Amino acid sequence: MADCMQEWPEPVVRVQALAESGLDSIPRCYVKPPCDRPAPAADDDDDASSGASIPVVDLGNGSDDEGGQLAEAVAVACRGWGFFQVVNHGVRPELMRAAREAWHGFFRLPLQEKQKYANSPRTYEGYGSRLGVEKGAILDWGDYYFLVLSPDAAKSPAKYWPANPGICKEVSEEYGREVIKLCERLMRLLSASLGLDETRFQEAFGGADCGAGLRANYYPRCPQPDLTLGLSAHSDPGILTVLLADDHVRGLQVRRRDGHWVTVQPLPDAFIVNVGDQIEILSNSMYKSVEHRVIVNAEEERISLALFYNPRGDVPVAPAPELVTPERPSLYYPPMTFDEYRVYVRKNGPKGKAQLEALKGQSITEKKE
Ligand code: OGA
Ligand code: NI
Repeated sequence: MADCMQEWPEPVVRVQALAESGLDSIPRCYVKPPCDRPAPAADDDDDASSGASIPVVDLGNGSDDEGGQLAEAVAVACRGWGFFQVVNHGVRPELMRAAREAWHGFFRLPLQEKQKYANSPRTYEGYGSRLGVEKGAILDWGDYYFLVLSPDAAKSPAKYWPANPGICKEVSEEYGREVIKLCERLMRLLSASLGLDETRFQEAFGGADCGAGLRANYYPRCPQPDLTLGLSAHSDPGILTVLLADDHVRGLQVRRRDGHWVTVQPLPDAFIVNVGDQIEILSNSMYKSVEHRVIVNAEEERISLALFYNPRGDVPVAPAPELVTPERPSLYYPPMTFDEYRVYVRKNGPKGKAQLEALKGQSITEKKE
């Protein structure tokens, strides 16, 4: 990887430290251009009252998918939104709370203690405050902690795990195992929902060696929430993301098919699931990854835990031949491994769906030749 990935291009400022310093306006480097700023809250509340929220899929605590009803519900959610909440998903609410509490505990530590885990753009593992290495970029109002949970060969070594709170590693690893099981079930449903054999997706993405990363996001209070974002618009690069969001502080916004941003109201004990870029590629765009972003607020901090379920790093991913027809030719060519794909994300940070569009561009050029 290029040298620019060894270190951050500018000294790293912890957003939490900035927020806690009690400033009443935000530094210029967090001020988004007007087109990227959140819309006034009133617009969005209209959506909530008109019921324009993401679908809810009841997974029935792991019971069989009789008559393919669940697969059909997943198909409807993926076609219409690419974002849905799952309830009765089989992960214990106490474990969800324990994982969130452990990470809350980490962010409450004194700055000096957290700094011991400062990350670099090479692997992102550890305590971070920016995505991307572009010098002079407009930054997001949030800090995070990133770790690799799976496969075993790529797991973050012990030195990357915070020593405090003491239970952080154990709880996060158990949480990871349970959420990965949920991802495997969702993969079977996704395959079936496209009329494929239910093991088809898992096999295409590398079988039992799929990857998983955990990012704890911390969005401090912000004195000027209308000018910035906690996380800029992006689609997730991997297969699926399972998000545990705060159920009392809203922040996640999803871009609806008509371009409008909708704020998600998480249900108690639910997860928010979204389709990542790799599913868009494998499904030949039958299911599209969806742009989302995070808004912040002046009253309350917010924590979320995102589990990114990714293909094995070295498996070339391309549209499934069953989903490519003369009427619907392959949109993504040539095949690309996830290791290759994420270099772009690590370098450029959140950039809407630009990366996937660039892949499409490649195939168009090739077809013209
Ligand atoms: C992410 C993400 C949303 C949130 O981490 O990729 O989209 O609500 N997080 O924190
Ligand atoms: Ni995301």
